[in-house]
This record gives sequence, C-alpha cells and structure tokens, in this order.
Amino acid sequence: MPTSDMRAEAEAFIAANAPKIKRRWYPRFHIAPRCGWCNDPNGLAWFKGEYHVFYQYYPFEPKWGPMHWAHAVSRDLVHWRREPLALFPDQPYDADGCFSGCGLEKDGKLYLLYTGHVDLMKKPGKPDRIETQALAFSRDGVHFEKAAGNPVIKLPEEVSTGEDHHFRDPKVWQHAGRYYAVVGAQTAENVGQVLLFESENLEDWSFRHVMAKAEGNQGFMWECPNFAEFDGHEALIFSPQGVKPEGRRFLNLHQSVVMLGKMDYEAGIFYHGSMELLDYGFDFYAPQVMQVPDGRCLLVGWLNMWESTMPEQEDGWCGQMTIPRELHYRNDRVVTVPAREMLELRKAEHSQPATDFDKEVSFPDWNRETGELCAEFDLSGARGLAVHFAAGFEDEVSVMVDKEKGEVRLSRKSAATGREESRWARLPSSQDKLSLRVFEDRSSLEIFLNEGEAVLSTRFYPKTEERVIVLEPQEGTVRMTKGVFYELDDIF
Ligand code: FRU
Repeated sequence: MPTSDMRAEAEAFIAANAPKIKRRWYPRFHIAPRCGWCNDPNGLAWFKGEYHVFYQYYPFEPKWGPMHWAHAVSRDLVHWRREPLALFPDQPYDADGCFSGCGLEKDGKLYLLYTGHVDLMKKPGKPDRIETQALAFSRDGVHFEKAAGNPVIKLPEEVSTGEDHHFRDPKVWQHAGRYYAVVGAQTAENVGQVLLFESENLEDWSFRHVMAKAEGNQGFMWECPNFAEFDGHEALIFSPQGVKPEGRRFLNLHQSVVMLGKMDYEAGIFYHGSMELLDYGFDFYAPQVMQVPDGRCLLVGWLNMWESTMPEQEDGWCGQMTIPRELHYRNDRVVTVPAREMLELRKAEHSQPATDFDKEVSFPDWNRETGELCAEFDLSGARGLAVHFAAGFEDEVSVMVDKEKGEVRLSRKSAATGREESRWARLPSSQDKLSLRVFEDRSSLEIFLNEGEAVLSTRFYPKTEERVIVLEPQEGTVRMTKGVFYELDDIF
C-alpha cells in the first residue's frame, strides 16, 4: 500500500478509535498511545529547541503488530503535543516493521536511524528474518522521508552471527566530528553482542568492531544498546534477553542494564565493568538516552515488560513510557532521578505535619489516582518502613525498606493472575534517613528511594475506590519529617 494510503488509514483509525478507549487506567502525565499498542521509546532527540520522543506503535489493536513510529514533541520536557505518525512499514526493507532506533539533528534536519524488519519463512539452518538499518529525515521535524540509499547498514559479512541474524536497534552519537552507531546482535554461539559502526555523514557507514559482548550470564541477545555520557563517565546501556535469575537479581523476563567503562575509539572496543540493573521493578524495558544541550543525559524507558499481563488491553490501549529521568554518577555507581523538569508539573499540594507513628497511618488527602508523593523519614526508632498502595486490596503494591538489611523489597499482588511476586534492590546508604518519591499515575508507580539509589517501577491496576496509601512502621516508631502529595498537571 502506498505510504499516503497507510497514513490516511492509520490516522483515520486512531481518530475514530481513540475516543472509545476506557480511561480508568490511562495515564495523565505519561506518554501513552491514543489507542492500540506501544513498546520501546525511540528517536529521543533535541531538535530546533524542542524535545522529540517517538515510540514503537501499532495503532490497530492493543497488541504488538507491524511497527509504526508514533511521535510526541515538547518544549519543556513535561508538556507534550502529539504529531502525526512518523514512520510506516511501507518499504520492502521494513515491510514487517519499523523497529527501534534513534534520532539526531544534523545540518538543520532531524534524522532517524531505525531497523527495517522483514520476516522470512523459517527454514532449518536459515535465518528467520532480515534486519537492516535505514535512515529517514525531516526538515520540519514532523514529516519524514526515507533515504533513497536505504538500507544504509547491513549485517557485515565478516561478523559471525547467530542463526536468526538478529541485528537491530541502532543508536548514534557523535565523537570528535564523526558519527558512531551501536547496533544489537548475537554471536554465532548465540550470546549477546553490540557492533560498532562509523560514518562521516550518516549515510555511508563502515563496520568497526564488536564493541562489547556477553560474558557468562549476560544474555543471548542485547537489544536497544545506547552509548551514554554523564558526570564525566561513559556507559553502555542495553536490554539483554535471556539473563538467568541470580538469587534475587534478574527476576524479570528481560533486563535493562548499565555498564560503566571507557570507549577506545581506536580499537572500537568498550572496556567495561559489571552489569547493573537500571530499575529494579517489574516493568521497565528498552530505555533510550538523550544527551541534551545543558549536558545532562536523560533517559526514558518502556513502563512494561514483555509477557507481563497487561489488563489495559481490554480497554483498547496498551503500554506507556516512563517519566523522563536523569542519569548521574554518585558514590561509585549510577543513579537515576526524575528529570528536574518534573517539578513544573506540580499543582495543588497536600502536606502533612511531621508525625511519629508506631502503627499504620493513612492520610485521606493522599488517596488519589495520580500525583507525586514526596516524603522523608527518620527510621532511627524502627527497623524499617512499609508503604502500601491500594492497601488491603487485590492489586496491592508494597514497598518495604529494611534498614538493617540495607534492602528494599517491592511486592505486587495481581487480581489478573492471582499471584504475589517480589523484587529486591540494595539500599547501601540506607541508615536512619529515608527519602521516598513516588509517581503514581492510575496504573503505574515509579518509586525513587534515597535520590535514585534504588528505582523500582511497576504497573498496577486498582479500582478508583481502592486508592489507599498506608504507611506501616516495621518494629518500632517511624518519624515522618516531611510528607507531601502533589497533584500533577496533565501533559497533553
Ligand atoms: C525491544 C524490541 C526491539 C525491537 C522492538 C520491536 O523491546 O524487541 O529489539 O526493535 O522491540 O518492536
């Protein structure tokens, strides 16, 4: 079908179906599809004074299908406007999907480098797909044209690769006047690796080297790689598939991780340290970074996980992005905090005076569907603190800080599955002071402890009348020194 017909069909479908979705779990301050399905954030870019976020999108059903790119733009990073769909699977090299990729400004144009995905009928000993990297560009930041020379990057013949030729999710950065792209792939032994390419103009690329690859329990495929720079440090951020659980770590189906290290541009190799999770919750995947002009490295992820139950599918939509976060280096590790622009969304505040409590407390003003809870605690008289969301109901989520173990546990009950599951994170500096910032947005919680020392994100699906936050001291008396719930502005 010609692009113009595809565009007309998709936009007409969205216009007719977006008003019909049920909004009981639909976010108010997160980017989510108007109807249909979304996954990975894509194309994060700063262009002509505005932030651009695209995402993997299938408009026609609330489940994964041939990928389009949807598009949202913002001047301040927190109030967004929707733009028309940017990419359609309309070419022979992307016929089964415009898969994940990146965005960047060059010579007054906004470029997108993405994966063209083509499904092949699986035959023994032959790949089940062709994945190549394709370029699109726009002068106005709204209408995109695909480059005549596509695909611009093919799987290099000299690279040994797994049977299925996984080769996707390019992310470009600039160094010393040249462009570098990292692309996710597999080795012939089916372990994850990322490949480095180099270009002067974004159109002609040459393969440099295997930039990094899995060692030991680091997965069979590395999706969505990013090279990131923050606070004078370099990092590789990616989403490995197939990492096996190690005790209480790596319990999700797939992971999103960061490795600090140093890029050797001569050799084309990233020398790195260990692999650490970026978010310890149930629902966080495929994060992408964006270096912005003030020097910060921002990050947005998909606030879902493949193969999680997604009850909003019955409401005609599925999936959402995280809030924008900042990456920093503190006390020898990577921390993520809400982007400082999130403060701009604050509206009415519901503040509680400092309180000591030795049994459960709840503040009716805080029992809302969306908003930000910002609290500080003195735990010197207790072992820890539990905070329960939808307390006592079927879809309860609990955050339990145990200061003696230096650990936080996130538990989620699910009415949809009948299961209760937990995830854990270390809180190395958790002594007597605890700070908590939680962004609650109808069906999601993003929990930041001790200024990003541990971040845990999860979806949850309580009913309106079940919005009850309860604070529960553990073995003693807790003092809440600050406690405010902010209502937040809508972002669209
Ligand atoms: C990650 C991913 C990417 C791929 C995209 C397809 O969630 O599998 O590797 O490009 O989703 O939608």
